[in-house]
Amino acid sequence: MPRRPQRTGTARASARAKVRTATLSDAKPIAGLVTALGYPTNATDMKARLASIFADPTYATFVAELDGEVVGMAGACLARFYEKPGRYARLVALVVSEASLGRGAGAALVGAVEKWGANNDAGEIFLNSGVQREAAREFYERLGYRVSGVRFTKELG
Ligand SMILES: CC(C)(COP(=O)(O)OP(=O)(O)OC[C@H]1O[C@@H](n2cnc3c(N)ncnc32)[C@H](O)[C@@H]1OP(=O)(O)O)[C@@H](O)C(=O)NCCC(=O)NCCS
Repeated sequence: MPRRPQRTGTARASARAKVRTATLSDAKPIAGLVTALGYPTNATDMKARLASIFADPTYATFVAELDGEVVGMAGACLARFYEKPGRYARLVALVVSEASLGRGAGAALVGAVEKWGANNDAGEIFLNSGVQREAAREFYERLGYRVSGVRFTKELG
């Protein structure tokens, strides 16, 4: 997890992050971001992956731009509750480039995902965050999230 970002007057004075829906042309910067997150990939593989994701209407993918450059991405999906009526959104991926930390791109991306979820009848939003990502916990708590469970994982096949 990157160190806590330094918020300087210069950073504050620069353009606000602009969030838009991702397209296949974003495959290269998204591949770089996903690689930085710890999952090495390349533009070609990411383009194929994004094509499958874009074909699934329960998913949405956003990118954040600062000064016209893609500096972050977020991916989310919708799912249905068993324990009550309705559906929820799940933030599946979120990453901002190291060089652009602390300039609001992460918060803008989460805001876009929340808005998309609410517009698609999601009553709640969930996310998984690895225990090694300690600073991410502070980030999410700043945005109003709270820890509500433990994730279990097991390889299949
Ligand atoms: C977590 C992450 C997306 C935050 O992105 P960011 O663009 O730097 O965050 P923002 O600038 O929008 O910050 C939003 C708020 O969170 C706070 N925050 C951001 N990073 C923080 C950190 N490392 N520690 C403490 N607080 C932090 C900011 O101070 C800000 O609060 P403020 O508006 O009250 O000042 C980014 O650090 C990242 O990509 N980390 C690596 C990948 C990762 O951990 N992803 C989450 C996986 S679940």
